Amino acid sequence: MIQAHKICKSYQDGDRRQVVLSELDVSLPPGGQMSIQGESGSGKSTLLHMLAGLDKPDSGQLTVNQLNLTTIGERQADHYRRSTVGLIFQRFNLIDCLSVYDNLCLPARLNNNLDSGYIAQLLDALGIAQHSKKRPNQLSGGEQQRVAIARALSHKPALLLADEPTGNLDNKNSSKVAKLLYEQCRRLQTSLVVVTHSSAVAALAQEHYLMMDGKLARAN
Ligand SMILES: Nc1ncnc2c1ncn2[C@@H]1O[C@H](COP(=O)(O)OP(=O)(O)OP(=O)(O)O)[C@@H](O)[C@H]1O
Ligand SMILES: [Mg+2]
Repeated sequence: MIQAHKICKSYQDGDRRQVVLSELDVSLPPGGQMSIQGESGSGKSTLLHMLAGLDKPDSGQLTVNQLNLTTIGERQADHYRRSTVGLIFQRFNLIDCLSVYDNLCLPARLNNNLDSGYIAQLLDALGIAQHSKKRPNQLSGGEQQRVAIARALSHKPALLLADEPTGNLDNKNSSKVAKLLYEQCRRLQTSLVVVTHSSAVAALAQEHYLMMDGKLARAN
């Protein structure tokens, strides 16, 4: 599913170059689940953005489902993002002028694969069915987070990238929502990459990594 080989990424910071990823290697089989922990600023979101096709490495090889993300053009990247990837952003990026239900259906509608039975199931599983007519700004942070998770799964993506998917939830809700997230991905055979500060959420994955010095090291 994911093959990363010697990925490098740095940013220009005034007259200094900040190396964020340095010859990073990682792989994940189809349907696999991995978690990434690491200090703030260590490059976790940067890596997710590349896996999402939102940014490119400076060098190295990155392929997802045999598609080479290092060399694809804008149109192909756009199609890849829409069809293959589900994204849960660190900030939810819900659309406030759409209802919860319409937010949820957006990726599936863009792909012409809306399955309303499945959407109803997702709303139920994540405990947000009673809020489906509300706007996101009428929900609590934790409820918005669950909507963001449901939306990322609504088009049954092959790869789900989750950046702090439970960051706004208390411990009890965090483990409940995390379990749902892992479970739904297993059911759909969706590969999952979870970035989290919570060791309990990380522990639910089969493989645990730590982002340090621009590389991913196995944590188990
Ligand atoms: N577009 C950008 N331009 C310049 N620097 C950037 C850019 N994006 C990220 N960085 C820098 O790269 C480093 C890694 O950022 P990143 O967002 O990947 O960290 P993170 O591990 O996700 O941290 P957190 O746990 O706080 O979310 C940071 O020092 C950040 O300032
Ligand atoms: Mg981050």
